[in-house]
Amino acid sequence: MDFEWNDAKRKAGAANDSDVPLEDRYQLLIDAVQDYAIFMLDPAGRVASWNSGARKIKGYSADEIIGRHFSLFYTPEDVAADKPGRELALATARGRAEDQGWRVRRNGSRFWADVTITAVYDPSGALLGFAKVTRDMTERVRLAELEHAIELSAQIQSTREDEQKRIARELHDDLGQQLTALKMGIAALEGQLTASNESPAALAATGDLQRQIDTMMASLRRIASNLRPPMLDDLGLTAALEWLADDFTHRYDAKTTVQVHVDDATLTESASTAIFRIVQEALTNVAKHAHANEVRIAISASTDTCTVRIEDDGRGAEIDGERKPRSFGLLGMRERARQLGGFVLIDSAPGAGFRIAAHIPLSAIQSDQARTR
Ligand SMILES: Nc1ncnc2c1ncn2[C@@H]1O[C@H](COP(=O)(O)OP(=O)(O)OP(=O)(O)O)[C@@H](O)[C@H]1O
Ligand SMILES: [Mg+2]
Repeated sequence: MDFEWNDAKRKAGAANDSDVPLEDRYQLLIDAVQDYAIFMLDPAGRVASWNSGARKIKGYSADEIIGRHFSLFYTPEDVAADKPGRELALATARGRAEDQGWRVRRNGSRFWADVTITAVYDPSGALLGFAKVTRDMTERVRLAELEHAIELSAQIQSTREDEQKRIARELHDDLGQQLTALKMGIAALEGQLTASNESPAALAATGDLQRQIDTMMASLRRIASNLRPPMLDDLGLTAALEWLADDFTHRYDAKTTVQVHVDDATLTESASTAIFRIVQEALTNVAKHAHANEVRIAISASTDTCTVRIEDDGRGAEIDGERKPRSFGLLGMRERARQLGGFVLIDSAPGAGFRIAAHIPLSAIQSDQARTR
């Protein structure tokens, strides 16, 4: 809670704490509370007192609100369902009513409120009214929603990787096998046609079919390895990155080098995938945006952090913190690093190349065996 005791004391015109009468002290205390709306309702539900927390949370000044019915704070749906009336009835019957729900500020905006209404009686047992304490929980609710969204996005990411891995395997094992069988069948046919020497046209056609199947197999391999680079499983991250860099050098005529100063055998599967995907997206960006002559990929480690750098000498870009609405590549990189407890720094300027550094805690990416070694 925020207490503005000194302000309140000044308002009461008191030089020392002891100059303030006890009753006024309570009033000052309640008025000084900023994080809670604390106020009284009369037995009919009209606002009878107001504190600065209430003004801050609900937006009304004391002059505007005192005397008005507290149903003003409820949403039209809740008013139609007589929620305010039911809460007062419950507080009267049980002494206290608690609720969490949407409430409405003076400006019409809604906030998520945690509300307690307590019935107040005089010594003879007559109902004096209700003490109402309201806390604005909107930020907490937003934080919980954000945490939930982050968890969900991690789950989606990993489900996606699993699914891609499965499709890649199916493509390779199922379709790949069938194409191989088809190719062998045509080769046998070709043998027969060559031996009989009866139909040169049919023989030429089998040659065309063979070439088409080769092209299909190459496409299949390319699609499957984009979904899940097989060398990542078979040979590890370093070899997979070298393959990626080689392919990039030849395809885009930009000299691409890889230096890995981490033992990739110690990395978890999800860490290898994340690093591979970060580099893959960075290279796609170089191809799309950079016009670079040289790209350097380097993975290094300090005592507790692994750093993945992808740097090009291309035309760079303005880094203004504003994300282009349809750009997801850098966002995806940040998300992958974040899921491993790390973060991504980007450094660039027009004409000055583009530098990406993903910093990831080693503890999050090393397998259990590696850590106990
Ligand atoms: N290597 C680079 N050189 C120059 N500019 C770059 C480079 N990488 C990224 N950028 C700039 O940063 C922007 C954002 O990149 P990001 O990868 O997020 O999106 P995108 O490549 O435009 O689209 P997407 O990745 O969603 O297909 C790019 O549009 C580009 O302007
Ligand atoms: Mg991109």
